[in-house]
Amino acid sequence: MQIEPHGGRLVNRLLHGEALEKAKAKAKNLPTIDIDSYTAFDVDNIAKGIFSPLTGFMNHEQTRQVLETMHLAPGLPWTIPILLGVDQSVADRLDLGAEVALKDDQGEIAAILHLSEKFSMDHTEIAEKVYGTADEAHPGAAYTMAMGPVFLAGELDVLKAREIEFQDHNLTPAETRAAFEERGWKRIVAFQTRNPIHRAHEYLTKCALEMCDGLLIHPLMGTTKSDDIPGDIRMRCYKVLLENYYPANHVMLSLMPVNMRYAGPKEAIMHAIVRKNYGCTHFIVGRDHAGVGNYYGTYDAHKIFEAFDSQEIGIEPLFFDHAFYSKRTKCMASTKTCPGTTEDHVFLSGTKVREMLQNGEYPPEEFTRPEVAAVLIEWARAQG
Ligand code: ADX
Repeated sequence: MQIEPHGGRLVNRLLHGEALEKAKAKAKNLPTIDIDSYTAFDVDNIAKGIFSPLTGFMNHEQTRQVLETMHLAPGLPWTIPILLGVDQSVADRLDLGAEVALKDDQGEIAAILHLSEKFSMDHTEIAEKVYGTADEAHPGAAYTMAMGPVFLAGELDVLKAREIEFQDHNLTPAETRAAFEERGWKRIVAFQTRNPIHRAHEYLTKCALEMCDGLLIHPLMGTTKSDDIPGDIRMRCYKVLLENYYPANHVMLSLMPVNMRYAGPKEAIMHAIVRKNYGCTHFIVGRDHAGVGNYYGTYDAHKIFEAFDSQEIGIEPLFFDHAFYSKRTKCMASTKTCPGTTEDHVFLSGTKVREMLQNGEYPPEEFTRPEVAAVLIEWARAQG
């Protein structure tokens, strides 16, 4: 028996066969609105059940529930509203009950929205409740603040699955579930990352794998902020690392085509729920999960789980303290397991690492594997 998707049923809003052909023909005559790549990822996530139980963009009541109670309904946690914001002039030409074609950033009709509600809410309030700030220096808050003033709610019928680079690694929740079944894995731990995997990350994943049958390395490949390392470079890092340092029979690499929101604790809950939908039973939450700048406390993403009943979250979080290489014990450790003082820790700031890579210098092996460093040096030097 696999873990149940959130809400009990894996949503599938992708049309196929005759229904798809009919929808395509109909969409040509519908009012059309343009959506950006960020919204197109959200549409794709709803379509494939990555966001189960969502079947469309949230209405006013659902948004309020999520902001105020961190639940969609009693017993159904959800922490980040999924919204479609448009300009007033766009909203004015759409009637309630209408079907609306959503044209994506690739110039194609991605979905038909069954418009059930138009509503307004204070963007500052949304940003503050989700991100803890409306500061435009926060990438998630900035996106929310820039959304159109009217939110369109309604169910989606989706006409295309969004293709991304490395599409052969872009397994849907139904496909990862089937792959786990085929491998006979019962306890599966997922690892979220938006970075190359360094030694500290590797340590977390391997500690977790000791307790599980399988490890899903599940890098986020939706929209990320411009100074994050690009997906194609990260992919090269993951591949070279897995080839050299991980056991192939207990590890899978698949991509998660979800936008990064940088919402820290609230995103940790969302990341866990999404991995439950992919069929994972355990989820790694380390230091400052999904954090950015100094907006969140180091372990806020651990503490937030206390606000929920473990049954309603379903997937089990595995919490890790700050990890590093300890010179004294000559192994990877964390603030929980290391006896020494901070002078023992091999610690490099992000700025220092970037500087080293740009100069063609390999960071110490205790920080990153040399094969990964080689990929990053090549990339950093090409940036100039
Ligand atoms: S995140 O935005 O996806 O959280 P990142 O890719 O850096 O950023 O982290 C992936 C996961 O590893 C997160 O759960 C994060 O908390 C954890 N993590 C990253 N670095 C460390 C570290 N040095 N010690 C403990 N956990 C870490």
